[in-house]
Amino acid sequence: MPDQLTKLAYQTMQQGRALLGVTHKEVSTRLMGLLAPDGTPKTVPIPPELLASLRQAMDSLHERDWQEAEQGLYPPSLLFDAPWLDWASRYPMVWLDMPSTWSRRRERNVRDLPSSVDLDNYPDYYLQNFHHQTDGYLSDHSAALYDLQVEILFNGTADPMRRRMLAPLLRGIKAFADRPAGQVRVLDLATGTGRTLRQIRAALPKAQLVGLDLSSAYLRQANKWLSQLPGELPQLTQGNAEALPFADASFQAVTCVFLFHELPGEARQNVINQAYRVLEPGGVVVIADSVQLADSPQFSAVMENFRRVFHEPYYRDYISDDIGARLAQPGFEGITAQSHFMTRVWTARKPR
Ligand SMILES: C[S@@+](CC[C@H](N)C(=O)[O-])C[C@H]1O[C@@H](n2cnc3c(N)ncnc32)[C@H](O)[C@@H]1O
Repeated sequence: MPDQLTKLAYQTMQQGRALLGVTHKEVSTRLMGLLAPDGTPKTVPIPPELLASLRQAMDSLHERDWQEAEQGLYPPSLLFDAPWLDWASRYPMVWLDMPSTWSRRRERNVRDLPSSVDLDNYPDYYLQNFHHQTDGYLSDHSAALYDLQVEILFNGTADPMRRRMLAPLLRGIKAFADRPAGQVRVLDLATGTGRTLRQIRAALPKAQLVGLDLSSAYLRQANKWLSQLPGELPQLTQGNAEALPFADASFQAVTCVFLFHELPGEARQNVINQAYRVLEPGGVVVIADSVQLADSPQFSAVMENFRRVFHEPYYRDYISDDIGARLAQPGFEGITAQSHFMTRVWTARKPR
């Protein structure tokens, strides 16, 4: 059972992560203002009351993260799991990458992708530099920086936010409690570099895990991270979440973290329909993504700034989208949603 000292260590570490993230963004924004002023986006001012309520929501997220570890949903060691040395060695690359980000921003060039990529293999909406990312999602360079960039962007809360899908996932697969744990199959859509699968592996050490993503470069990075873990290596498959290469009813759970805000509405619906198809009756889907205007109107300025600072072409549409209605379309039932800091988590069940 984790003790108060460990809790203090966790809280202190999270404060340190937040400080590092805020400092990095402050310094890089000033540098951009000096060196690339015409690329600097105009942001909405964040009033002190909003900052205070963001801090409060962040504290609640950490408290929930701590409590769920204490309840045994996942090992407390997961709270401290981060590749610090690796990130430290990659950090200079984040700075070296910035000038090309600034120039794309200045030139409003959002389709600056590696020439080696066969564009016919991807849906058109995907062929962009999301968050002005060098090479979009389509190179090892991009995959090498992604986790660290997300760590900085969310001030160290990315994993605590991802972990909020674990409680509903564990609750959902209780429907299959009569099966040996090794026969439960969980599919993580848009698995990226595997950070979500890493959280799931810690909570479900015996389950069969499968990760799918459109980017083979990101899957290569996921393979590197995940092969360091004990237990069976998750199966990693390159593919489009809108047309899953899996049989009907072949999974007991489907998860999807931080994908929906990067999809046009029609693609969001296609992904939900596919999740429904590959789930066994009684199976659970858990989707985590940005909070939305309807559930978190107090954070609307933060959502607006996110859209202005990063190239996120579908975000404005996403924050007004009714994901509950989309889940109901193919027939999902028991649809619930909860917000944790900047993340909203939807859970739903395919009827038996
Ligand atoms: C913002 S990242 C999220 C990655 C990961 N889930 C995480 O928590 O960090 C979005 C991911 O979605 C993938 N992606 C985007 N559209 C996709 C699609 N239609 N099918 C499969 N993967 C997709 C991208 O390649 C990228 O890895």
